[in-house]
Amino acid sequence: TSRADASGLKVVITAGPTREPIDPVRYLSNHSSGKMGYALAEAAARLGAEVTLISGPVNLPTPVGVTRIDVTSALDMFEAANHQAENSDVFIGCAAVADYRVAKAAEHKIKKTSDRDDLTLTLVKNPDIIAEIAARARSTGYPLVVGFAAETRDVETYANDKLTRKGLDMIVANDVSQDGLGFGSDHNAALLLWRDTSGHPTQRRELPTQTKSEMAVAILDTILERLAERQDT
Ligand code: PMT
Repeated sequence: TSRADASGLKVVITAGPTREPIDPVRYLSNHSSGKMGYALAEAAARLGAEVTLISGPVNLPTPVGVTRIDVTSALDMFEAANHQAENSDVFIGCAAVADYRVAKAAEHKIKKTSDRDDLTLTLVKNPDIIAEIAARARSTGYPLVVGFAAETRDVETYANDKLTRKGLDMIVANDVSQDGLGFGSDHNAALLLWRDTSGHPTQRRELPTQTKSEMAVAILDTILERLAERQDT
């Protein structure tokens, strides 16, 4: 059997968490380890793609042959992603981007006070990185935009909603409430959802529990199929 080939394709992948500063020593973040995004970068490079990995703070080595750009906050990731997505063929948003950031990070360390027991942080919405990239891709059809959905319930319903609302070409929905899967683990299970160009109902492919490396290959296979379909129409 012939192996999928991604040579000549420029693939941009976001991975890991973002950190939203509260003050010089504290931040808001999440449990993303970067493993899923790094597995995708490694698999895409092995298939011959030119891969740029935009990475939040993680403890992982850069996969061989991959160009890595380190970022910290969602705003940093937004800027790097917008820049890299230009002239790319595929954009995969695997990062767990903070939906909100602290409105105004304190310039100095916030001190514990003795007169009050509560502290209020005002949060403001971060830009939706993948939605903005998808909106710009609509006119040219490129890049093909693939998002992830981390859900803890009603996975398919919420993922379908994100596919439509963010204007994505495909979404990888993972149930992050299951022990040993999703955030931090070496394994994942997911449901791929996509719509083809002719407006048919949503197509689906189930990816049962497997290593993130195996899943990365399966996701890329499906992406390459969609790209081929697009070039045929
Ligand atoms: O990193 P690991 O430990 O290996 O774990 C992998 C993972 C669970 C983090 C990964 O598989 C995953 O699900 N990543 C997406 C996590 C997430 O933030 O999902 P979401 O449902 O909140 O976001 C939906 C999509 O919008 C994602 O493609 C996300 O990158 C994107 N997004 C979200 C918010 C925002 N402000 N900008 C975005 O681009």
